[in-house]
Amino acid sequence: MRPSAVAVALLSASRGCSAIALRGRPNTLLNTGTTPRSLLQNVVTWDEHSLFINGERLMIFSGEFHPFRLPVPSLWTDVLEKVKALGLNAVSIYIDWALLEGKPGEFRAEGVFDYDAFLSAAKQVGLYVITRPGPYINAEASGGGFPGWLQRVKGHLRTSDSDYLAATDNYASNIGKIIAKHQITNGGPVILYQPENEYSGAVGVTFPNADYMQYVEDQARKAGIVVPFVSNDASPGGHNAPGTGKGAVDIYGHDGYPLGFDCANPNTWPAGALPTNWHVTHESQSPSTPYTIPEFQGGSFDPWGGWGFDQCYELINHEQERVFYKNNYAAGVTILSLYMIFGGTNWGNLGHPGGYTSYDYAAPIKEDRTLTREKYSELKLEAQFLKVSPGYLTATPGNSSVTGVYSPSTSVSITPLIGTNGSFFVVRHTDYQSTESTSYTLNLPTSAGNIAIPQLRGSLTLGRRDSKIHVTDYPLGDYSLLYSTAEIFTWKKFEDRTVLIVYGGPSEQHELAVKSSAKRWKADSGLTVAAKNGSIVVNWQTTTERRIFQVDDLQVYIVDRNSAYNYWVPDISASSSVIVNGGYLIRSASVSKATLSLRGDFNGTSTIELIGVPKGVSSLTLNGAVLPHVKNAQGNWESTVRYAKPALPIPELAKLDWKYVDSLPEIKAGYDDSRWVTADHKTSNNTVQPLRTPTSLFASDYGFHTGALLYRGHFTASGSEKSLYISTQGGSAFGSSVWLNDTFLGSWTGTDASSAHNATYTLPNLAAGKPYVLTVLIDNMGLDENWVVGPDEMKHPRGILDYELTGSSDSAITWKITGNLGGEDYADKTRGPLNEGGLFVERQGYHLPDPPLRDFAPSGGPTSGLDKPGVAFYAAQLDLALPSETWDIPLSFVFENNTAKAGGAYRAWLYVNGFQFGRYVSNVGPQTVFPVPEGILNYKGSNWIGLAVWALESGGARVPGFTLQAANPVITGRDKVQVVDAPRWQVRRGAY
Ligand code: GAL
Repeated sequence: MRPSAVAVALLSASRGCSAIALRGRPNTLLNTGTTPRSLLQNVVTWDEHSLFINGERLMIFSGEFHPFRLPVPSLWTDVLEKVKALGLNAVSIYIDWALLEGKPGEFRAEGVFDYDAFLSAAKQVGLYVITRPGPYINAEASGGGFPGWLQRVKGHLRTSDSDYLAATDNYASNIGKIIAKHQITNGGPVILYQPENEYSGAVGVTFPNADYMQYVEDQARKAGIVVPFVSNDASPGGHNAPGTGKGAVDIYGHDGYPLGFDCANPNTWPAGALPTNWHVTHESQSPSTPYTIPEFQGGSFDPWGGWGFDQCYELINHEQERVFYKNNYAAGVTILSLYMIFGGTNWGNLGHPGGYTSYDYAAPIKEDRTLTREKYSELKLEAQFLKVSPGYLTATPGNSSVTGVYSPSTSVSITPLIGTNGSFFVVRHTDYQSTESTSYTLNLPTSAGNIAIPQLRGSLTLGRRDSKIHVTDYPLGDYSLLYSTAEIFTWKKFEDRTVLIVYGGPSEQHELAVKSSAKRWKADSGLTVAAKNGSIVVNWQTTTERRIFQVDDLQVYIVDRNSAYNYWVPDISASSSVIVNGGYLIRSASVSKATLSLRGDFNGTSTIELIGVPKGVSSLTLNGAVLPHVKNAQGNWESTVRYAKPALPIPELAKLDWKYVDSLPEIKAGYDDSRWVTADHKTSNNTVQPLRTPTSLFASDYGFHTGALLYRGHFTASGSEKSLYISTQGGSAFGSSVWLNDTFLGSWTGTDASSAHNATYTLPNLAAGKPYVLTVLIDNMGLDENWVVGPDEMKHPRGILDYELTGSSDSAITWKITGNLGGEDYADKTRGPLNEGGLFVERQGYHLPDPPLRDFAPSGGPTSGLDKPGVAFYAAQLDLALPSETWDIPLSFVFENNTAKAGGAYRAWLYVNGFQFGRYVSNVGPQTVFPVPEGILNYKGSNWIGLAVWALESGGARVPGFTLQAANPVITGRDKVQVVDAPRWQVRRGAY
């Protein structure tokens, strides 16, 4: 049901909200529905420049994080703290409907899917949250977040077709209520809500469909959402921008992935990819709302057969951050979220077929939660700068392609953002792809007139693929910079002094001018200083040595960029911070009585320097233990954190006590499939694939939406059968194998380019009148996304599309089908609807901890392998005793990639304590290293590891090598990791 305008007005009244004018000029009237209505709350407001929270103007700088891609709730805080330490103040989250409503009408959001817990964790860490529950999310998730059962809905997805709309109601109201509870108006962290995602294009249906967008928005309002709606258009297209009538959102936003997703040539930046018109398009599309980019490229996905995330990391690296992020600031963005800040894992079949298990995304925080040095640190420099530069929020962006105005050099383009509280000049190479170093000078307007900079000596340099922000009339508490060519990391007004930290690239010449008429100052050697027109001008060439310039009680710390990477600025309270120089990660700082407590991580012996320790504080603790300190020459505290690598007893997997069970009993004589579902639907609701078989063999028609699919086709031979033609579809890189009784007919081993395959297999001579059975195993790689509205690509079926048995009629075959046990009545409510597929061992639950070893045989493990096509399952107990109270130890399971040793193409599913944490495809790749977090693994106890190995070729296959590897351990201050509580094996009633 759609709430009427009256209902919306009532909702507003019941919350006692009225439009309240706050500081600045926030909007009071929104035009989102058919009629303008009032703001539903007064905590989150905005004007054309930025958001306000409780009347305070601020930039929302966020990173995208999918809790569902890290199924260890006690680690959510770890990632959130790593996001916060960057200087970001928000995370943006998608919510994946497919994982929460595996069966229509049954919504479950508990345990590893507990958004209530996630939102509480974000609140506790002190980050705002932008929620994006879809219903459609894309996100490289199976079905783009749509549950498989939507394949049975006849209506067009993402339109106002009534059966589709009705299908979304239960999810929308349940997830809406959880989010509503955590809105900032209720003391929670949620500040914005994004209905739909990239509702930006369609083929063959009415578009834009205002009724649909309005319906999705009304669902949210009905569930109690009062925070503003934000959109995520796929490009600056203006869809659903305020003022466009029904279905419009409150704040218009669009995303951007200018460098694309092709990691093949990581050093090539394509020509013309830098957006230079975004400010202009924003002004024409949504001039009354803050410029918003709800997703900006923070990495890249990578498909099956792709190049691997290391290579994506080269493409979307710190240089991309410098040039492209700063280009966004040049366009005046004030609500910005990076996609992804932490990617995580497509565990348990949650990914779409266009991606493999890792969703590392080449993000600043890696899949194993380690921090990338360059990429994480560069982002930290930028975010911390914006955090202390409120003047940026109201500065007016100018033309971004101008040359020759602010610099005589036309090799650089400089975008001005002119403000009343500081102005900002964003410099980039005119040819943005340039890998050259360019020398330039500036001619900047300042309160002291136009100044040619540098004034004292030398010229400035813009290194390869670099961009810089120069400031003028920039306030620093009681001080002001007339200008600085060196970039600002942070500044803080402490009780006894103001500290400014500036940095430059290696060997660069820089100059800054402090407005001051002082006659005396202190300057370290290497700094050239002169008083000029009411300012003190400091000029230097950057070296790796820190130099300090002091005038009155302003101390300027001058460092090189690589040293600036080492600084952290944890907040002690809303109004005070301490600057920490050193450490791999400083998570937080707090003061209680006379003690300053830091929480942080260290990956080597380090000195930490604390700048701005509050008065009255006399002692220091790190991660709860007292850390002695001394005072250095600058009056800062210094301590040493010692790192001694602990012994890490990592078991050799080859030496575990492996057990084996055949996971393809289906091909044995006498196998009983009487409990299987009979595939007897004579029609299908599927609107994208016509039925070509007498009964539907589309898996979703029978409730099977995930993992391996098995078919059993019974027929009585006529004796004249010669061959079997079969068309199977499983999504990119899928494979399929076919047997007649126990005779192997053949396999499709898969390629990244094929999501379906037609094969004709020769049959042996069949005896007339005898019963035979075909067994078909198909790998469902996940359901397609549904990016474009209309074609309903998400409905591309999985399973058998067509077949023909020569010498027989198609209807002579009676088919049975299975996927995961129970289908939509899935067996494992804890690990969710997608985690297990239809393999025999999965149906029996043998992939869970404590499988019934009486059903297993002793085995040499996965390296012993199979000598013919089939599926073997290997299980072993893995005991760990790792010092995880104080150490973060990333562990990964690693497959040796060795075709010769493997002997044939194979696929493997890795289960860790019942969670499927890896799909390996030997002949497609590229992933061979599968990180598994602590919490899925018990680092202090027993674990069960399972590996299902599917050999597709006639000689069978063996896993050439399978090992557990630890990355460098890090001393950590994170909260203790709780092992996820999930069921162990129990007899599964009715399992077959
Ligand atoms: C965006 C989309 C996201 C994700 C991203 C690529 O267009 O909104 O869901 O798919 O592309 O990673």
